[in-house]
Amino acid sequence: METLAYLIAAVLFILSLRGLSSQESARQGNIFGVLGMLVALVATATLLSDGWAFAVLGLVVLVAAVLGGTMAKRVAMTAMPELVALLHSFVGAAAVLVGFSTYLAPPPEAAGAVFRVEVFIDVFIGAITFTGSIVAWLKLQGKVSGSPLLLPGRHLLNLGIVIGCVVLAVIFAGAEGATGLWALLVMSALASVLGVHLVAAIGGADMPVVVSMLNSYSGWTASAAGFMLSNDLLIITGALVGSSGAILSYIMCKAMNRSIWNVIFGGFGTEPSKAPTPPADGQQGTVTETGVDDTVDRLRGAKDVIIVPGYGLAVARAQHAVFEMTRMLRDRGCRVRFAIHPVAGRLPGHMNVLLAEANVPYDIVLEMDEINDDMPEADIALVIGANDIVNPGAQTDQSSPIYGMPVLEVWKSEHTVVFKRSRRTGYAGVDNPLFYMGNTRMLFGDARDSLDAMVTALRTSA
Ligand code: TAP
Repeated sequence: METLAYLIAAVLFILSLRGLSSQESARQGNIFGVLGMLVALVATATLLSDGWAFAVLGLVVLVAAVLGGTMAKRVAMTAMPELVALLHSFVGAAAVLVGFSTYLAPPPEAAGAVFRVEVFIDVFIGAITFTGSIVAWLKLQGKVSGSPLLLPGRHLLNLGIVIGCVVLAVIFAGAEGATGLWALLVMSALASVLGVHLVAAIGGADMPVVVSMLNSYSGWTASAAGFMLSNDLLIITGALVGSSGAILSYIMCKAMNRSIWNVIFGGFGTEPSKAPTPPADGQQGTVTETGVDDTVDRLRGAKDVIIVPGYGLAVARAQHAVFEMTRMLRDRGCRVRFAIHPVAGRLPGHMNVLLAEANVPYDIVLEMDEINDDMPEADIALVIGANDIVNPGAQTDQSSPIYGMPVLEVWKSEHTVVFKRSRRTGYAGVDNPLFYMGNTRMLFGDARDSLDAMVTALRTSA
């Protein structure tokens, strides 16, 4: 019965991942995930024969569900990476605690070197995930400095810790009693330092990729715990989380033209930039400003509009306003499409989630590869709170830190209007030549205010 329930839960988790791969099916994917977790929880709870343990488990699940639900309801979309980092730290802490308790009170069938190696791996990855995620969370919250901690000989330090842990693993595998416990305790301390050091060496701006990597680590921790506890569902679920997190990190790195190895070994985003540092306000050329009325006039004559949303759309919470404007333009017979860059915003799928929240129809939301070739046909491209993802320097300026990153070629459209508040640079901190091009106009101001004003202007001229 238990095996069947675990099998059903595993299938539901796989269906969940499949559902989450596209926005049309994401809601269904979430439901599959919830159902899978419910089946797993109930199946695990029925293993308990002791009524007291059952009551404690029920209480813990209830408190956790209330806490989790409240956190999920309250969190702002822009603060999602920190919440995810915090949740990964819980997985790491749980793995360490379960590892110790299983070692101290092993199940009757568990014994020998293989069992001890399983415990060791579980605690090792768990401790790295725990402390690494806490540092990532603190950096994202701005509670510790986002700048990378670059100790001299840091790679040697990491290597030394790993070698030390391998030696401890050998001691632990053959040791009984107090020696084994000491080896486990010392390794936990070393792995905790490694977690802190690996993530501290990474710049705060690169934390989203690190969070995705830690997500992968948390999956492998769970998988190791599954081997240790002889729990097939944990092995499968951990492997699913571990591999999907690793794939996601790889996709993010590729879309940002970064090396995944730098993320894994720390030091990601710390290579000195070859580009000249732009002035703090990013003022390197002459921009042409425009206003709401001018932009609305241009839109009235447009037949084909492409909207490129970026991180600023999330900051301004302008997704409903942009959809309202889209609806009005479509009612006038204008073709309006959204172009989504794979790393627009700060999370994978960030823009898709925002647009889905505003009920933008999925068929007008296109991925970069699907729409980039259509840019020359567009009468006007509206760049709303986006910067790096539309930077032509990524194609032309070999000294740019983002050189090689694929970008949305908005400058090929007839006109481009950029909605932003100032001339400041974006996430990568590089100047954007798009702003100085002859067919680009800058519409300065909060994106939500500008869009609301445009909606009003379009409505009055309907
Ligand atoms: P950014 O390059 O960060 O540009 C966002 C722009 O929005 C800024 O230039 C900002 O200019 C503007 N903005 C902010 N608040 C605004 C508001 N209220 N109203 C209007 N504009 C506002 O964002 P992007 O173009 O979306 O690119 C994403 C960047 O994040 C890339 O460099 C990517 O590599 C990186 N990244 C993405 C991810 C994922 S998975 N999505 C993960 C890690 C890193 P002002 O301050 O002048 O208004």
